[in-house]
Order: sequence, then C-alpha cells, then structure tokens
Amino acid sequence: MSAPDVVNAVANTLALPCMARRLTSVCGSQDVLEAMEWAQKAGLPLMPLGEGSNVVLPRVLEAVVLKVADSSLSILADAEDSVTLRVGAGKVWHALVSEAVHSGYYGLENLALIPGLVGAAPVQNIGAYGKELGDYVVAIHGFDLITGAAQTLDSKECGFSYRSSVFKQELQDRFLITAVDLKLSRAPVVNIDYPVLKSRIGCGEVSPTTVFEAVVALRQERLPNPAHSPNAGSFFKNPILSTQLLRQLQSAEPEIPVYPVSDELSKVSAAWLIERAGLRGYAQGNVAMSDQHALVLVTDGHAVQGQVLELARYVQTVVLERFGVALEPEPRFYD
Ligand code: FAD
Ligand code: EPU
Repeated sequence: MSAPDVVNAVANTLALPCMARRLTSVCGSQDVLEAMEWAQKAGLPLMPLGEGSNVVLPRVLEAVVLKVADSSLSILADAEDSVTLRVGAGKVWHALVSEAVHSGYYGLENLALIPGLVGAAPVQNIGAYGKELGDYVVAIHGFDLITGAAQTLDSKECGFSYRSSVFKQELQDRFLITAVDLKLSRAPVVNIDYPVLKSRIGCGEVSPTTVFEAVVALRQERLPNPAHSPNAGSFFKNPILSTQLLRQLQSAEPEIPVYPVSDELSKVSAAWLIERAGLRGYAQGNVAMSDQHALVLVTDGHAVQGQVLELARYVQTVVLERFGVALEPEPRFYD
C-alpha cells in the first residue's frame, strides 16, 4: 500500500472541495488487506473511487478512499472473429477505447470520450450513442471489501441495466473492481442507429474508426467540457415511463423525444423536460443548468455540495409539478 496522500483532496469533475480522511492507491490483494485493516482500526468505511466524474462529494469524506492503480491490458483469448481483453481498473476509459479501435478490436467506439476509469465503467454500466458497456463484459474481477476475498462475477451476476448494476446497488462500497474482461469483435460491425450519430455520419462507407471520430466530435460539440465548466455529465437519468404515463405526458407535450424500451416502457428525454420547463441556463449562485445542454449541471469551480443539492431538488420539483415526472439523479451523492 502506498503512503497516504498528504493533502487528501479528492479530485472530482464538479470541482467541489472535498478532503478524505485517507486516500489509498491499491494494486493487489496485500494492499487491499492493509487498507481494510487500517479502516477497521480507524472505524472508517472503505469507498472505491475513480476520477470523480460521477460523484457529488461533501467537504469532508469520512472514509478511506481506494483507487486502483493497475492500468494493464492483456489479451486473454484471440480468435478469428473476436478478442477477449483483461483491463486493469486503473486504466483511463477513453485510452482503452482508442487503443481498441486502433488495434482492430471493435464494439466500444460509440462509448468514446466518456470520462473516468475502467473500474468505474461497470458501476453504472456506462452508455452512449446506442451502446452500453454491459454488452461487452465477460467477467468482473475484484475484492469483497468485507471478507477481503478475491471474487469474479460473470456478466449475468453483474445485473446490468440502464445506468445501473449490482455494483451501484447491493455491492456498493462492498466490492472493489480491479479488472474487467471484455469480449470485442474483430469484424468491423458498426451501430449507428442513434439518430444524431446517423445524421452526423450520413451515407456512404462507415467504419468503426468513422464512428469513433464522429462520437468524439459530437461529444465535444454537445457537452460542456469539465475542464472549463465543471460538471458530472447528465445530472439526471432519462425517466422510464409506463405506457399510461407516457400517453398522459404526450397529450400535453406531443413533441417530447421518446425512446422505446419495451412493449410497456418508454424512456423520455430529461434534457427536453428541463428545457421545456424553462430551466436551461437557469443559475443559482455558483451552480447552473448548462445553457449548452439542459441536462448538465455545471459549477463555476467555487461551488459546494449543498448548492448542487439545492439546484437538483429545485429542478426535480419544477419538473414534477409541471409534467408529473420524477427525475432521478445519475451521479452518486455522498454524505
Ligand atoms: P467515479 O466518479 O470516481 O465513481 C463513480 C462510482 O463508481 C462511485 O460510486 C464509485 O464508488 C464507483 N467506483 C469507481 N471505481 C470503482 C472501483 N474500482 N470498484 C468499485 N466501484 C468503483 N456516463 C455515461 O454512462 N455515459 C456518458 O455518455 C457519460 N458522459 C459523461 C460526460 C461528462 C462530461 C462527465 C463529467 C461524465 C459523464 N458520464 C457518462 C459519467 C461518468 O463519466 C461515468 O460514470 C464514469 O464511469 C465514472 O468514472 P470515474 O472513474 O470518474 O468514477
Ligand atoms: N435536448 C434538449 N435540450 C438540450 C439538450 C437536449 O431538449 O439542452 C433534447 C433534444 O431533443 C435531444 C435529446 O434531448 O435530441 C437527447 O439529447 P442527447 O442526444 O444529448 O442525449 P441525452 O438523452 O441528453 C444521453 C445520456 C448521455 C449520453 C447521450 C448520448 C442519459 C442520462 N444521458 O443524454 O450520457 O452521452 O445520451 O447517448 O442517459 C451521462 O450519462 O452522463 C451522459 C452524458
């Protein structure tokens, strides 16, 4: 286990001030066991974190923060039509996507430029432009933070769903992800069903590299960059409605974008609801709903957790009162 960071400041893309009691970089079972022992003696919980791009942190985090340092990449199986990779949880997600596409391993290109580390990607089953990580996961490796035992979960056991998994539910803060096995295609099949992506690419020859480049360009144009405008990406999930609720909403708001989920369920655009409620660009002190993208809560770099909470609650209240739709935050709030 490496020496604890002297400052213990926890970096996060909302730029909220946060100090943890201890920050620990781990690589292997010995480090994990030592961190567990230290936390137990100090009476503190263990909390895995990556780059802090999907969290709303308090000024003081009474916890031992664990960050996995392993950024290795190895090939587990190499077949004619597929390749299975094992990737260390400490690898930067976008670096993996870029390396995979350039090596001829396909499937992840729609997920280009999502911030964060590989170890966090399964937690909310990251998704974008018509793809989700869970479609490529073969297994997740890690440690049970209560027993210290090494454990492997297969894809089914991960319980992936829209912006969720077992790691965001019953195994939250209980399972430290240390490596992810992904099965990618060697055939250059692409998915450009997502309307904005399709119209961006247009007709003609499409390769995974074209998709990768188009997704990078779209994201750079559409989403505020946390380096200039601190944010955590989409602040709310797109709500999933029953057919009955959807019909009610559509009778008042026929223009709302709808994405079918199943025969009985449909996802609707949270950004559209927030914009329609007049809250795109709405500011309260150091925080605002971005005028570039209504679903992204931005800070001016000087905000604190309470201000983020207050604006989020205000947006939820306005949208609920106006449309009868409950918005659920996507990032995790810490006490
Ligand atoms: P953190 O924010 O540090 O942690 C997130 C959660 O994962 C926490 O609950 C933490 O406890 C847990 N965790 C982290 N590492 C581990 C580990 N090793 N083991 C167990 N648990 C762990 N998300 C999307 O799905 N799609 C998008 O298109 C998208 N776009 C974004 C755009 C921007 C500009 C930003 C700022 C965020 C965006 N996000 C998106 C959200 C975010 O990038 C992802 O959720 C990402 O996977 C978080 O990675 P991280 O390393 O920053 O994790
Ligand atoms: N829209 C507005 N106003 C805006 C922005 C968008 O009305 O200011 C409407 C438009 O009609 C637009 C629609 O919302 O067509 C959808 O917008 P966009 O394509 O940007 O997608 P999103 O639903 O807002 C989701 C994910 C993103 C992901 C993109 C691309 C969620 C909560 N968000 O956003 O994920 O990158 O699709 O697939 O599912 C994240 O999770 O942090 C994230 C950024």
